[in-house]
Amino acid sequence: MLVDALKRPIKDLRISVTDRCNFRCSYCMPLDEYEWINKKEILTFEEISRLANLFVGLGVEKIRLTGGEPLVRQNLDKLVAQLSSIPGLKDLCLTTNGALLAEKVSALKAAGLRRINVSVDSLDPEKFKRITKRGDLSKVLEGIFAAKDHGLDPIKLNAVIERGLNEDDVLHLVEFSRDNGFSIRFIEYMDVGNSNDWTSGKLVSKKEIIEKIHSRYPLKEVGRAGGSAPSVDYEFVDGRGDVGVIASVTEPFCSSCTRVRLTADGKIVTCLFSGVGHDFKALLRRGASDQEITDFITSIWQKRIDRYSDERLEALRSSSYNPKSHKKIEMISLGG
Ligand SMILES: C[S@@+](CC[C@H](N)C(=O)[O-])C[C@H]1O[C@@H](n2cnc3c(N)ncnc32)[C@H](O)[C@@H]1O
Ligand code: SF4
Repeated sequence: MLVDALKRPIKDLRISVTDRCNFRCSYCMPLDEYEWINKKEILTFEEISRLANLFVGLGVEKIRLTGGEPLVRQNLDKLVAQLSSIPGLKDLCLTTNGALLAEKVSALKAAGLRRINVSVDSLDPEKFKRITKRGDLSKVLEGIFAAKDHGLDPIKLNAVIERGLNEDDVLHLVEFSRDNGFSIRFIEYMDVGNSNDWTSGKLVSKKEIIEKIHSRYPLKEVGRAGGSAPSVDYEFVDGRGDVGVIASVTEPFCSSCTRVRLTADGKIVTCLFSGVGHDFKALLRRGASDQEITDFITSIWQKRIDRYSDERLEALRSSSYNPKSHKKIEMISLGG
């Protein structure tokens, strides 16, 4: 089994299929313009599939398609069809903002997609617009229900909670999920990228989120799926659904992190907070063999020592953390 320098196996591959997005969420991609990846630098579906196959050969069991907004990439269902037929791959998932889901879900389902995560941070149309700048809540809800009608299961909703913005939405989101048979995962606001002006004051901790929910709908902790999932999950004591919190800031899970990321322009990144990636596009495009590529992945993974969130917590505790001191790859490029 391929393990890194801290004995963590490689199990999950997150693929960013584009750095473009039709939203401008304040916590992720607040600016109108970025240094976009040039179209010809974006990996083709064939290049992505080839790498994905090699990763599965090295132990990857789960692939998530993300971005940017994955559904703005034309014909994404063709990639889903290629990936869903990889022998040995146990799970294929897509994370989307849902805006284009209603029109695309039928083709995605037919191509082999079985489950989906949709991000929705508020059920108040005006606030939703304020957070996403370009989003229309009704289109997202239409997408979520279209996914349900097409039998995607589970449907998980993701919500980033930011103090002063949407902590009041936690219970509405919980009720909406319970009423409609969706799972919900709250995400602590993280200092991803370089442009979101994150401060610890904007963070709403897992403890606070869980207390808020538990006082209204009692919860029972079930832990991390498979022991290493980012989310700590809870079931409602009344049996009506589940909820989880991804607490990368207050309860980091670096010690069990089995995730590797592939950027839209073919870089392998070994941590969400990395400042550098390893260029595989050059290797692919100069005709490297499968063995050469596998060897390169192996050598990168074996040297991996990333534990950024652990280090951030240590620095936050000693009040010495400066999120701007370290230039990171934008989340839209490396795939959230
Ligand atoms: C980068 S997005 C890409 C996929 C898709 N566009 C979407 O919004 O679901 C993936 C996930 O990262 C989350 N995310 C983005 N910026 C974040 C931040 N600063 N802190 C926590 N989560 C964040 C989003 O809410 C979303 O659930
Ligand atoms: S969170 Fe998703 S929808 Fe929002 S700006 Fe980032 S990539 Fe786009």
